Amino acid sequence: MSRQYSIKAEAIAEERKRVNDDLDKVDVSRVVAMDELELREVGPGDVHLKILAVSGEHNVDHAALADTVNITEARGGTIYPGNSALGEVIRTGKDVTKFKAGDIVITHCNGDPDPYGFPLRIWAYDQPESIGWYGEEAVVGDWQLIKAPLDCGLNLWEIAALPLRAPTAYHMWRRAKGIFRLKVSEEKLPTLNVLAFGGGVSELFLMLAKSEGHNAYFCSGSEERRAALEKHGIEGIDQLQFNRFAERSDVKAFIGESKTRTNGTGMHIVCDMLRGPVFAPGLAIAARMGVNVSAGWQLSTGIDYNSAGASTKQITLDHTHYETIEGCEEATALYGSVFKPTVHHEIYSFEDLPRAMSEMHENKMTGIPIIRVAKDMPESVQGLLE
Ligand SMILES: NC(=O)c1ccc[n+]([C@@H]2O[C@H](COP(=O)([O-])OP(=O)(O)OC[C@H]3O[C@@H](n4cnc5c(N)ncnc54)[C@H](OP(=O)(O)O)[C@@H]3O)[C@@H](O)[C@H]2O)c1
Repeated sequence: MSRQYSIKAEAIAEERKRVNDDLDKVDVSRVVAMDELELREVGPGDVHLKILAVSGEHNVDHAALADTVNITEARGGTIYPGNSALGEVIRTGKDVTKFKAGDIVITHCNGDPDPYGFPLRIWAYDQPESIGWYGEEAVVGDWQLIKAPLDCGLNLWEIAALPLRAPTAYHMWRRAKGIFRLKVSEEKLPTLNVLAFGGGVSELFLMLAKSEGHNAYFCSGSEERRAALEKHGIEGIDQLQFNRFAERSDVKAFIGESKTRTNGTGMHIVCDMLRGPVFAPGLAIAARMGVNVSAGWQLSTGIDYNSAGASTKQITLDHTHYETIEGCEEATALYGSVFKPTVHHEIYSFEDLPRAMSEMHENKMTGIPIIRVAKDMPESVQGLLE
């Protein structure tokens, strides 16, 4: 048996009833609950893991709120969440050659690759039967694991911050840049202006842009997170100064400020994982030939825009969904050199995971939230527990 967090459809219904369906008032910690699970047998291609640390991921929030779809109900009433983890291999099935006991690994969450390698479904979310990694132990297929780059210069918590968000950012960046370069070559415009709105994926997206010499701008309401990115040469724009775009006048003021910062050009690439009120300013500040890329819908799933305006400015809207497994490997190779994530100031204990999720929901994070699952850490990571 492994202690494991679950989300149950009854808990979602009860919490929704308690707050009269007002999602702003939902207490996610009343929905994500400690449970127990009997792990499946270790098959020939399986790996048995001790989970060391996990990151708080936004899809867990979506699952607990049932705001996009009620994925828990759709999956029969219970899900075991958590699709980003760092663990130690305890034992391996007889056909596993890539890993051995003692290896430290990270997961990816591509649950069901399509013919091109992109996920049809996400592990521990909509992939049927998938068991997530907010638990003390797990049994996974060896294809779901990547060796953790322990010597990349990051500490253990920083490495644990990246398995889901870094591949997402990596794919979005390659896509947005590729689309832009189809329209405007590097010879014609070597340096791009790149904007992203607050959030862990966006921070990593901007680190990729900056590492290639572009001008990067982070529009966030969090002073701590803006300050952290400024250290990497990424300019902060205070979203609260524009009232999180509550009124048209706020959007206009943001456009004015961003135009000033970019000498009147605007942004060639915009990463918008939030939609809702953030979409309009992101689109309006696009430069000619701009690309607006998204893999998220935190504030809204719908968007509305003027197609004629987008057409005459030759704007491309692009949508992505996680990465291929090869892409996850490539993103992992950039840990420490490109990806230097900001981690929330508190490392939560396993027992405090529900509080971490609720504080993430309340937007109190100063960086990516990390939960230490294992009390005893293996010798191989002792030097990384800063
Ligand atoms: N499809 C995929 O492959 C994929 C992968 C990863 C994530 N996602 C989705 O992408 C979205 C963001 O994920 P993430 O991991 O980057 O999130 P995250 O690290 O949890 O960050 C969320 C950010 O939302 C911002 N925020 C919160 N309330 C806001 C509001 N009222 N107005 C404006 N901004 C607000 C905050 O930015 P401030 O700094 O401004 O406060 C916060 O930093 C989620 O919907 C997630 O599920 C999708």
